[in-house]
Amino acid sequence: GLGSDMYRQQILDHYKNPRNYGELEDPTFTHIGENPMCGDEIRMDVRLEDDDETIEFVAFSGDGCAISQASASMLSGELQGKSVDELLEMDRDDVIDMLGVDISPMRVKCAVLAEKVAQDGAEIYRGELDKERTSTEE
Ligand code: FES
Ligand code: FES
Repeated sequence: GLGSDMYRQQILDHYKNPRNYGELEDPTFTHIGENPMCGDEIRMDVRLEDDDETIEFVAFSGDGCAISQASASMLSGELQGKSVDELLEMDRDDVIDMLGVDISPMRVKCAVLAEKVAQDGAEIYRGELDKERTSTEE
């Protein structure tokens, strides 16, 4: 329908004109992760405000398919002003809602890649996740 056409346009637009693409000079934490299905890697740089909790800015870089890149682009904007707790509470349904289109089971790992990488980075920053564990994706 019309609604999903609009969302599909939005995904293409984010893919062609990614927002917040690049690397931050002064991230509070940065993390790189890959989609185990294809080997594509995304880097998420997150800068927190002085409260060490509010997300001030997010940038992403790396390669991937349109869904993964659009998801990273949208997520980087969505996260600005949110808290690290809110980031950690996000799940795949939140990401799929954000994208606004049906995602086939095959593509779910593409859709959630940026979210996963940002969450792993945040958990490592907080000392809640063993860095070794993330290097061997489930
Ligand atoms: Fe260094 Fe994630 S890549 S903490
Ligand atoms: Fe690699 Fe989608 S095919 S991230």
